Amino acid sequence: MNIKHFITLLDIEKNDLKNLVNRAIELKNMVKKNIVYTPLQNKTLALVFDKSSTRTRVSFEVGMTHFGGNTLFLSPRDTQLGRGEPIEDTARVISSMVDCIVIRTHKHEDLLKFSSVSKVPVINGLTELVHPCQLLADMMTYQELKGEIKGKKVAWVGDANNMCNSYINASKQFEFDLSIATPKNFTPSLFENTDDNISLTNDPEIAVKNADLVVTDVWASMGDEDKEEERKKIFKTLQVNKDLMSLANTDAIFMHCLPAHRGEEVTEEVLNSSASVIWQEAENRLHAQKALLEYLLV
Ligand code: CP
Ligand code: NVA
Repeated sequence: MNIKHFITLLDIEKNDLKNLVNRAIELKNMVKKNIVYTPLQNKTLALVFDKSSTRTRVSFEVGMTHFGGNTLFLSPRDTQLGRGEPIEDTARVISSMVDCIVIRTHKHEDLLKFSSVSKVPVINGLTELVHPCQLLADMMTYQELKGEIKGKKVAWVGDANNMCNSYINASKQFEFDLSIATPKNFTPSLFENTDDNISLTNDPEIAVKNADLVVTDVWASMGDEDKEEERKKIFKTLQVNKDLMSLANTDAIFMHCLPAHRGEEVTEEVLNSSASVIWQEAENRLHAQKALLEYLLV
């Protein structure tokens, strides 16, 4: 049997992704109505994280609790991975005992090594290349609030990072137009010149003009902390503030995967504005990942 992994958004067919988002909304409604649904009894999800996390960890742990299963949180401090045991050896051992594994790590290549020998589904909980779980929640949030995202304009403003790359993948799978504003010399690694629904600019006003959804993220991701001060200067014209948001469509919404750096990539005013859906977006990590676990395991 072929094991289904979730390494990038491209691993799930367009239609299945759409169904998954709709299922996430159903699962959320079930939670709100206190309907108990435990399809993963006696199943264990391992969380192998060598970067910090609040939302990803909590949402997977709570999701498994809802589903009647268990989780095992493993940081490099606790495992032999931190002492240099090869990642493939670790993958073989852990995957012989648990039912699914979420990995959050620096190098995407390490995730690929892990999944290549894993006997159970592997979920990408963030690498330096992509953060696909966040996009499930973002797409779900848009769907809940505004309906289909297909044909809409999304503006990405900021770093050419893992979230930006994930929006590139999402624009292909969910068929929206993506306008990316990054500083000069910051080109997202997954951008290809043949993507005709994706445009690149250094001018955030061009990206945000008439957008239906505006998204940003920190200017220095995990692993880039030493470049934080230098990046504040390079990125300063790319702040999402009230003036920039005023160029978007009047009913446009604002998303941020969080954690946010207030006064840097986004102002407090925008985070607190009526356009901002960040708390719903964060909660939806739980529901979207439950739909993902159901898709992979049930
Ligand atoms: N957005 C997100 O993935 O948050 P955490 O780093 O807290 O998991
Ligand atoms: N781009 C950020 C996302 C955090 C959820 C990072 O990789 O640190």
